[in-house]
Amino acid sequence: MARKVTMAMILTLAALMAPLLTGALDIGQIRALAARHNLSCILVFGDSSVDPGNNNILQTTMKGNFPPYGKDFFNARPTGRFSDGRLATDFIAEAIGYSKIVPAFLDPKLRPSDLVHGVSFASAASGYDDLTANISNVLPVSKQLEYFLHYKIHLRKVVGEKKAKDIIKYGVFVMSMGTNDFLQNYYLQSTRTEQFSLTGFQNFLVSCMSHDVEEMHRLGATRLVVVGVPPFGCMPLVKTIMGTTTCVESYNAAASSFNYKMSEQLAALKTKLGMKIAFVDTYRIVEHAVNNPTLYDLKETSKGCCGTGTIEYGDSCKGLSTCSDPSKYAFWDAVHPTEKMNKIIADEAVKSLGVELLT
Ligand SMILES: *[C@@H]1O[C@H](CO)[C@@H](O)[C@H](O)[C@H]1NC(C)=O
Ligand SMILES: *[C@@H]1O[C@H](CO)[C@@H](O)[C@H](O)[C@H]1NC(C)=O
Repeated sequence: MARKVTMAMILTLAALMAPLLTGALDIGQIRALAARHNLSCILVFGDSSVDPGNNNILQTTMKGNFPPYGKDFFNARPTGRFSDGRLATDFIAEAIGYSKIVPAFLDPKLRPSDLVHGVSFASAASGYDDLTANISNVLPVSKQLEYFLHYKIHLRKVVGEKKAKDIIKYGVFVMSMGTNDFLQNYYLQSTRTEQFSLTGFQNFLVSCMSHDVEEMHRLGATRLVVVGVPPFGCMPLVKTIMGTTTCVESYNAAASSFNYKMSEQLAALKTKLGMKIAFVDTYRIVEHAVNNPTLYDLKETSKGCCGTGTIEYGDSCKGLSTCSDPSKYAFWDAVHPTEKMNKIIADEAVKSLGVELLT
């Protein structure tokens, strides 16, 4: 009897070979797989890694809705995305095949028809710990989930009760944050340092994340992608502040052990809740690209493209000149990845999405 080679087998193989075969997965296969599994939309929660401009309407200094941000976006439009172009979640939406971007839920120009393929509730400078968002006066996850409830109400008005329920059931929820919990909160402010050891704080963040996942599950989520933190000790800003030209190893160790704790907890939640959950190891993806730039056609992986590339991000990058070719850089500003790097992350994320969620 001939054994059928299933898409799941192909995808599993692709995932195993992922570091060798970046981009090997055919976009047509992903789209067919997504359609077969009724994949409906993307609903995004998190920080600047996935905020398409929700912060634009908030009273906060954490914004990126002015040039040179967005110089490689459609019509060179600065949208509030902290990059020269699209975010990883935009590329994931494109791979699935419904839209080229994931719009911000708080965008005043959002049309009712945009709701159907998903939106982002993310807010730059937010984190798993609500105190992190409070420091910058941005939206904590609890508030982002409140907006998700508003989203559900609007969606029901657009497509009806039954269809709205299905869209959420077959949607992919994405959570991407954690860096600010360390950089803006734990390492900078005394509140949490007085309360927790580093390990204790990591455990606290994991418990916050766990609570958020259970809440999403209660609100109808069945498929979830959690994005781990990058090696934030390699961010140009962190290196500048710490007065070193190499990555800050203690920070990277904190990032890496936090990712491990998250992935362990997610495995437990998968069993407990019966949800499909994928963990995207951004740490490994970024580290691989930074250590093997030529494999990804990158030339500069230590400095950002905006200004001097050592300290500028957000307001301090406003109106500055940039490097001539951001696609050769890993970092757009002193903190955030270029569109090129976001695409590299998205390609890997799409693979694990295929393996973990659509099998
Ligand atoms: C897709 O939707 C159809 C119709 O509602 C349903 O019968 C089928 O089981 C769904 N497929 C998956 C993989 O959930
Ligand atoms: C945020 O901080 C302010 C001032 O420190 C405080 O009054 C407020 O209650 C905090 N908000 C939340 C949601 O924790």
